[in-house]
Parts: sequence; C-alpha cells; structure tokens
Amino acid sequence: MRAMRVLGIESSCDETGVALYDTRKGIMGQALHTQMAMHADYGGVVPELASRDHIRRVVPLTRAVLAQAGCSLGEVDLIAYTQGPGLSGALLVGAATASGMALALGKPCYAVHHLEGHLLSPLLATPKPSFPFVCLLVSGGHTQLIDVAALGSYALLGDTVDDAAGEAFDKSAKLMDLGYPGGPALAAVAQRGKLGRFKLPRPKLHSPDLDFSFSGLKTAVLTTLKREQLTTKDYPDLAADVQEAIVEVLSAKSLKAMKQTGRKQLIVAGGVSANLALRERLQQGMKKLGGEVFFPPLSLCSDNGVMIAFAAHERAYALQQQGLDWKAAAQPVDQGFTVKPRWPLVQSFL
Ligand code: KG4
Ligand code: ZN
Repeated sequence: MRAMRVLGIESSCDETGVALYDTRKGIMGQALHTQMAMHADYGGVVPELASRDHIRRVVPLTRAVLAQAGCSLGEVDLIAYTQGPGLSGALLVGAATASGMALALGKPCYAVHHLEGHLLSPLLATPKPSFPFVCLLVSGGHTQLIDVAALGSYALLGDTVDDAAGEAFDKSAKLMDLGYPGGPALAAVAQRGKLGRFKLPRPKLHSPDLDFSFSGLKTAVLTTLKREQLTTKDYPDLAADVQEAIVEVLSAKSLKAMKQTGRKQLIVAGGVSANLALRERLQQGMKKLGGEVFFPPLSLCSDNGVMIAFAAHERAYALQQQGLDWKAAAQPVDQGFTVKPRWPLVQSFL
C-alpha cells in the first residue's frame, strides 16, 4: 500500500491550524495560531475579525509546517481543509487556500467535516480505540452522542436541544467574569472549590432519551449569583458545582448510550474532552461497565490542523485499501469551492 502525505488546514472558528500527516511517519509538522487574545475583549468570537486573522496566518503557518517537516509542497499527496460547520468567512479562508494550492499544484483536494476531524482524533492517541465505538462529541457548538460503526458511518444517538456543553461552561464562566474562553478558566477555578454548596439543575438526567439540555444551567447560575449576592470568593465553589452538573449529565448519558448500543469502547472528542473532571468520571464509569474510554491527546482536543489532515488521510487511505480511486473522491477545484457553515455530520455521511 502506498504511503500518503496529507496537508490539512483548519479555519472554522478562532484557530488557524495547519498540519502534515504521513501514513508511515504520523504527524510530520503542525502549527497553530489561536485568536483567543484577540477576541477576549469582546467575550466571544467576532466573525469578521476571525476571517481577517485567518488570512494573515494561513500562509506563514503552512510554510512553517512544511519547514518543520522538511517537506516541499510537491511532496504532498493530498490537500485537505475544513468545509464546515463553522463561520462562513473563516471557513472560506481555509477553503480558498487549500483549493488554490491544489489547483496550482495539480493535487487532489478533500473537504473535511470539522466534527469528523474531532471524532477521529482519539485515534491519534496511544493506546487508541478501534471501530466500532460510541463517541461523545463535546465542543463549543455541539453536544452529541454518535454511534460509530466504521469510518464514515455515523448514527446520531442523542443531541442537545439547546446549548452545547462547551457553551454551558463558557456562559457560566462569563457570568462569573472568569475570562475567555470560559471552559478551561472555569475548570481551573473549580479546582479550588468545594462541591455541594449550590443546588444546580441536571436537565434531562433521567429522561429515557440520550438528549441533553444545558440552557437551564446558565439561568440557574445567574439566579444563584443574584439571589445569594455572591462575590469572587464564592466563585470556586460555584464553578465546582457547575462543572459537576455538566460532568454528571455528560457521563450519565454516555454510559446509558453504552448500555443501549452494547458497544464496549467510548471515545470523547471536542474541546470539552480536555476537561479532567470529565475524563476521570468517564474512566471510572467505563471501568465499572467493563469497557474502555479513549480521549484525544490533550494538545489535540481543541481545534487544530492535525485532525483535518488525519481525517482526510483516513478516508483516502481506506479508499486506496479497497482498491478504489481515492483521487476521484476529491473536490473539483477547477470549478470553484463552497463552504458549509451548517452541516450535520450524520446526514452528510449517510
Ligand atoms: O472543539 P472546540 O475547540 O471548538 C469548537 O469546535 O467549538 O471546543 C471549544 C469549547 C469551548 O466551549 C471551551 O470552553 C471548551 O471547549 N473547553 C473546555 C476545556 N477546554 C476547552 N471546557 C471545559 N474544560 C476544559 N478544560
Ligand atoms: Zn471544534
């Protein structure tokens, strides 16, 4: 089987990520620029600023990755970019760069689903899971349980009916003015807190479905802050209870999904998979169930170029292994390109 070298570009939100992944050598180079500091003053991502910054970063980052890998563009077999979901202006930067390079170099170009990138990233860890497994996908915009029968075969088991888990972290952190992005900030403050002082809701904890609901949590945080006239010295305790509420619901629903599907492996992906309290809880839970849980390497939980290069590599390599023409699955870059700001993972791969 021929080894493949894939250049991946991620630009769906506030991180410009570029990476080079090779069948034999694995990750040959990676570079990431996060715009967090730029958006911090606004308490959230400003789409127009995000797009402009991606434009500034994408070419220097690509050069840096190739230099790190000691690889020329001519030696790249496949170019991949995040086509969606995400901010349209931001996505267009990665799409235009990748399509432009592919067109100029006469290379195939794959469009990657951002969430598939996250979903496959635990395969970059050691030890790694093997198909089939259940995925808990927890990012800033998504909270989903997905049954993954094989590469490209994703069935939605449960979804959030309102806020995502990352959003619940971010919005609660914002109410306490803990900084941006809120998830890691809240998790850090929670470490100093004591559990159990505040009674916060666990929406849908006992519902028979595998869906989630987190919007009530931020309302409860707001009411608690006001009603009890809390000050900064109370924040560690409140943060600890917020994290506990989110972790409890996420782990209970994940374990329920394991029982329902009969799968033995759970993987967790997306920004919130970096949360140590969640990791610990799921490790305990899966041990009790006689199964295993896998996470992406900590450095690859948030948005990055590696997961995009890797997802495209896995698809192209699988096609090659089946004796199929993996180049035929490429985007017709001579006909322009599109992005998909809203793109459900499950529908797109059925
Ligand atoms: O996957 P991601 O980088 O971007 C999206 O595709 O949305 O996820 C970002 C989300 C943010 O809501 C961020 O606050 C959250 O992941 N996050 C965390 C932690 N690290 C990142 N939430 C809780 N604990 C963390 N350690
Ligand atoms: Zn993401």
